[in-house]
Amino acid sequence: MTRIPLLRRALAGGLMLAGLAGTPVSAEDGTTAEQTVDAMNTLWGQHPGMRANHAKGTVVEGRFTPSAEAAKLSKASVFSGAAVPVTARFSDATGLPTIADGAANANPHGLSLKFKLADGSEMDVVTNSLKYFPVATGEEFRDLLVAIAKSGKDAGKPTPAETFVASHPAAGKAGATARTPTSLARQTYNGVNAFILVDASGKRQAFRYRIVPVEGEELLGSEEAAKQAPDHLMSEIRTRLGKAPVSYKVLAQLAEPGDRTDDATQPWPEERRLVEMGTLTLTKPVADSASAEKALLFLPNALTDGIEVSDDPLIDARVQAYAVSFGRRSQ
Ligand code: HEM
Repeated sequence: MTRIPLLRRALAGGLMLAGLAGTPVSAEDGTTAEQTVDAMNTLWGQHPGMRANHAKGTVVEGRFTPSAEAAKLSKASVFSGAAVPVTARFSDATGLPTIADGAANANPHGLSLKFKLADGSEMDVVTNSLKYFPVATGEEFRDLLVAIAKSGKDAGKPTPAETFVASHPAAGKAGATARTPTSLARQTYNGVNAFILVDASGKRQAFRYRIVPVEGEELLGSEEAAKQAPDHLMSEIRTRLGKAPVSYKVLAQLAEPGDRTDDATQPWPEERRLVEMGTLTLTKPVADSASAEKALLFLPNALTDGIEVSDDPLIDARVQAYAVSFGRRSQ
């Protein structure tokens, strides 16, 4: 319930900065979220109306049908009732609106979901294809982006990015866990951050989302990926949905005692139990995707009774940064 004041504060920050268009903002100014979005704008440019990260995307529609097992773990209405409508946005990483879908830097691809619940409220799940995150906190993510921005060809050795990676082991390895798929319908997407399921008796269970394509994951080598047409993935998913639905199993990877919930650089052991929470079935592309994505804002803490945030500090860092980006792109 702290979401609204936090969002308002972050939005106010975004609007304030947007009012200073053209004025360079140094990394010392503003909140961590503003500095993070500034660093993204420095790396990838400012593109009016576009997201600071995951700028290129496409919007589609479908539904989520819960499993019987899900209702035992969480009292959330999304897991107990009939199928609910879902709006989904696939995306490429970076703030480059015309990045080639097969470019290495377009990884991790994103899948954002907005569930339209029976009571009229909405719930978001924002995932990408990384198996774990390069850093554990919002401050570290800002520092990583600033270090990359300062590591151009004129930077002395070791570059700021090399120095950062040397002291943050996951930062040098996380990127390689996400590869270009043959289709956005053939990629596994991960929640990365831990959340908490709360059942009817109040029992709490930490988990991470994993969204697995029913047809199986199918990934390309980097050379094959680079040969794809620039818009291949975004147009292929729309064409595919024009012919037949695409389905994914929505899984919850359950934490065991001792598994850290506050550090997204630490994947939990693969043998952890995976519970099928339901099926996501995407059915059709949204006709005016460009207008639809401008209006959409996905927030990782937009939850519903029965699902809660964990102590992972990245969740709030993300909420703050997404709100700053939304404030700027809404100008
Ligand atoms: C501190 C960590 C992070 C920061 C600061 C950050 C920042 C951002 C920003 C500024 C945007 C643009 C938001 C907008 O304008 O609506 C964005 C989009 C996105 N991010 Fe993150 N991000 C972080 C971590 C993550 C993680 C862990 C994931 C996935 C598990 C993720 C997945 C996405 C996706 C899928 C989008 C596109 C959302 C959409 O489709 O509208 N991000 N991120």
